[in-house]
Amino acid sequence: MPKILITGCSTGFGRAIAEHFLARGWDVVATMRTPREGILPPHEALTLLPLDVTDPDDITAALSSAGPIDALVNNAGVGLLNALEGATPDNMRAVFATNVFGPIALTRAVMPQFRERGAGVVVNISSTVTLKPLPALSAYSASKAALNAFTESFAIEAALFGVRARLVLPGLAPSTAFAQNAVARMGLDIPAPYEAFVTETLEGLQTATEVTTSEDVAQAVWQAVTDPDAPMKIPAGTDAESWFNEVGQPVT
Ligand SMILES: NC(=O)c1ccc[n+]([C@@H]2O[C@H](COP(=O)([O-])OP(=O)(O)OC[C@H]3O[C@@H](n4cnc5c(N)ncnc54)[C@H](OP(=O)(O)O)[C@@H]3O)[C@@H](O)[C@H]2O)c1
Repeated sequence: MPKILITGCSTGFGRAIAEHFLARGWDVVATMRTPREGILPPHEALTLLPLDVTDPDDITAALSSAGPIDALVNNAGVGLLNALEGATPDNMRAVFATNVFGPIALTRAVMPQFRERGAGVVVNISSTVTLKPLPALSAYSASKAALNAFTESFAIEAALFGVRARLVLPGLAPSTAFAQNAVARMGLDIPAPYEAFVTETLEGLQTATEVTTSEDVAQAVWQAVTDPDAPMKIPAGTDAESWFNEVGQPVT
């Protein structure tokens, strides 16, 4: 059976991607910072491994325990929802460590086995905020734009060896714990001049009606992994598709 390793499977998109691939006969290595019973239903093809994507030792240990894999999904990510003046330098470093340097380190670590085999896929979970800006997300948007640029350049050299790299761009998914996790990890100390603006923006994000579901993201990842002709940037969710159309960016 082909094997996929996914980061950030404790909740949200990561958990849904794991379930999607298990249901279609793949061996799944679901990684998370703190593996716990009950996050995913037991399955003979499922392996749970600890992996904090910001920890180089964790990356080495997880890849060693996983053995050869056919696909890597860099899904783990953290948000930073605030005006720039309310975000600390530590907040910003944490966002880039998780959303950019983690995926780059994992991609670099799997590349030798993919190159030697002449096959393999890296799928990076980006965001439609890289197509059209949303307020109160400046540092987070910058991290996803960096992930896009990394992936698009890396894909060219990976292709020399039959290895593919793709981006999945979800729209807004208020159903996951993304906003709550962002606030829990980064705090939400809104500077007074931005109070109403940030509060209204966050409420708008949470109450959006045309939204992306975790299953939309799982399907887009499935396309990225299994379809050799999948476009470089794959929208996930009807709102994401609308955003692609709105900015006139063809799905290529
Ligand atoms: N929800 C949205 O609206 C949306 C839209 C576009 C893109 N995205 C992106 O989609 C991805 C998944 O987001 P989600 O909506 O499913 O959010 P989520 O429910 O907050 O899930 C994020 C996952 O990332 C994990 N994570 C955070 N820091 C980590 C680290 N250092 N090492 C390993 N795992 C870490 C979290 O694990 P812990 O439980 O250990 O914290 C959690 O499992 C993220 O990359 C996010 O930026 C989300």
